[in-house]
Amino acid sequence: MPQLKKTIAVLPGDGIGPEVTGAALQILKDCAGAFGHTFEFREFPFGGSAIDKCGEPLPHETLSGCRTSDAILLGAIGGPKWEALPLGTRPEAGLLGIRNELGLYINLRPIRLRPALRGISPLRPERLADCDFEIVRELAGDIYFGEHSLQGAGGQARARDVADYSAGEVERVARYAFERAATRRGRLTSVDKANVLATSTLWRQTVSVLAREYPKITVDHLYVDNAAMQILLRPAQFDVILTGNLFGDILSDEAAALAGSIGLIPSLSAGRPDQPALYEPIHGSAPTLAGKNVACPLGAIFSATLMLRESFGLTAESEWVESAVDRALASGYRTTDIAEPGSRVVGSSEFTQAVRAELRKAPVQEKSQRSGAS
Ligand code: IPM
Ligand code: MN
Repeated sequence: MPQLKKTIAVLPGDGIGPEVTGAALQILKDCAGAFGHTFEFREFPFGGSAIDKCGEPLPHETLSGCRTSDAILLGAIGGPKWEALPLGTRPEAGLLGIRNELGLYINLRPIRLRPALRGISPLRPERLADCDFEIVRELAGDIYFGEHSLQGAGGQARARDVADYSAGEVERVARYAFERAATRRGRLTSVDKANVLATSTLWRQTVSVLAREYPKITVDHLYVDNAAMQILLRPAQFDVILTGNLFGDILSDEAAALAGSIGLIPSLSAGRPDQPALYEPIHGSAPTLAGKNVACPLGAIFSATLMLRESFGLTAESEWVESAVDRALASGYRTTDIAEPGSRVVGSSEFTQAVRAELRKAPVQEKSQRSGAS
């Protein structure tokens, strides 16, 4: 069984971030122990807590610690405490800053329903059937990174945000989405607003040209308003959805609702091969839940399993954790956000302990065989 040594930068962030990353770290430590890997965790300040501690949301020490790690695990950032700060100095600026500094232009958000949780989806079972897709969101361009200005006050105030894409920026993320679709069901849906926006016209042209290099992939293009509707009407039509930064932010929250809770969805942000990938749940810092032991740790735990698979190639380890989660859910354990009538609603830490108890039950023999086969 190959034994790996990896360094993981941990950025707990704000609100529920420290609680959910704490849960994911326990699971990663269990995994390392069971499979004989060595994971070294290095924690750094980030977001609002870094503003409080160091005066800025992305301190130099945090950025250089991330650069020299094999992967990054992030909790969540932001909160009311920092909302009055000017836009470019808020916790969110740290998140955009790290995406930019590490060249993280790909953001993958898998929308996978857990078998035991199908009942908590707001969609009826017949509409939900076979729903399993991934959103590839462009993460380093678009209106997020164009010029922002807000001038004047009151009735005289004026604001603008510039959306900007180059063909190269579209192509590099589209390529990833095509490759991803090739490993799945071979369908790519590119989402834009090409009936109105110039950036979307470029987006559609670039994706269409690239499609000629991938003759085995079936490509279609949807306007974002229609895509938002189709995600609810017939989610099973999607395999890989490729879209820009702003549309991807919005559609991924909508798609997360299909799974039953935004607390369940992980993400991978990646880019240049010489830089580590960053893993984070797509939920926010949920300040009203912080410190109450009620947050759902699954978005962070699934971010850890995504890391095991995508950054370290540890497929068997990732499945070992995910199947333990499924067994804990099947036994009825739930955090409040994913509770159903009759389920055992427990605190965040008790839920994590239930998953860890399932991990301990998983036979060692089976683990090493599966690891050897991967
Ligand atoms: C996300 C978040 C961020 C984004 C915020 C916190 C800046 O909503 O990762 O989806 O808009 O990208
Ligand atoms: Mn978002």
